[in-house]
Amino acid sequence: MEDFVEQVWRLVLRRGPDPDAVERLRRGDVSRSRLVRELVESREFERIELLDDGLARARSERGRRGRPRELKAPAWSDERAIEIPWVLSRYAGESRVLDVGTAHAEQAYVEGLRDLGAPELVTVDLAQPADVIADVRSLPFEDGSFELALCISTLEHIGRDNAVYGVEDAPDDDGQEAALRELRRVLTDAGRLVLSVPTGEHEDHGWHLQRTPLEWIALFEQSGFLVFEDELYLHAGDGWRTATLAEAEGARYDDVAAGAVLVAELRPKRLAERVRLAVRDAWHRDEPRRSTAP
Ligand SMILES: C[S@@+](CC[C@H](N)C(=O)[O-])C[C@H]1O[C@@H](n2cnc3c(N)ncnc32)[C@H](O)[C@@H]1O
Repeated sequence: MEDFVEQVWRLVLRRGPDPDAVERLRRGDVSRSRLVRELVESREFERIELLDDGLARARSERGRRGRPRELKAPAWSDERAIEIPWVLSRYAGESRVLDVGTAHAEQAYVEGLRDLGAPELVTVDLAQPADVIADVRSLPFEDGSFELALCISTLEHIGRDNAVYGVEDAPDDDGQEAALRELRRVLTDAGRLVLSVPTGEHEDHGWHLQRTPLEWIALFEQSGFLVFEDELYLHAGDGWRTATLAEAEGARYDDVAAGAVLVAELRPKRLAERVRLAVRDAWHRDEPRRSTAP
């Protein structure tokens, strides 16, 4: 009975069983089949499936060099269902890849990172577990060490109260800019930084700082990057969808999840300016939105 419970929990929910599962079976409260049905019909499994579908989408988009936009996710989900496929789709075969803020990442995201098949993937965080325990504001890498850096749902935490992640960090109002400048330094001149941040009203939550969309863009640009591509997403009543600047600007972060996110691909400014790479979205210039990126 223990073996059955262990196996089915690992297979469906990818974790150890609930403490009362074996006992419920022993008492005859549920049959084995009913237990399997409960797991498969749970919200927990629904979320696993949603993120799994996102990974599959990212894999298929990478296969055809797609840049998926206008993604959707159900209202009950958080921003991860948008960020993960958006970011992982944009891997283009780079050899040296850096991921920042991996320690507390979603299991699905870590699986997705490994699934990229990058010859060299280095994960960094102030907290364990990560390949390198380091501060993103001061990375132990040479200039130009990576062709691609990924940073989802992390920039907003730099220089904030990170006690929730088990690390002590002194308050640093310039931390986000310092992190961006350091990421610029460790990227090659032709490198890319693909990231996501919560956005909406300017809100200081102590453990993270949410900036307005235009504040984020200004910060990226003053830190040595140009926005090559971006998109705003909103947690609307009927689910997650792309948003206009006006819609996203009014979003609030609730206790645990973002009301809107900005996803973006940044490129080092000097090269990007020279070759005029801008395929970025137009919402922050008050121009009509592009429906698809080239
Ligand atoms: C919300 S979690 C990251 C989520 C994760 N990237 C994901 O995909 O789900 C934020 C992470 O940032 C890390 N962090 C905060 N400040 C940092 C710093 N200065 N340098 C490196 N990592 C930092 C925290 O330890 C934590 O693991």
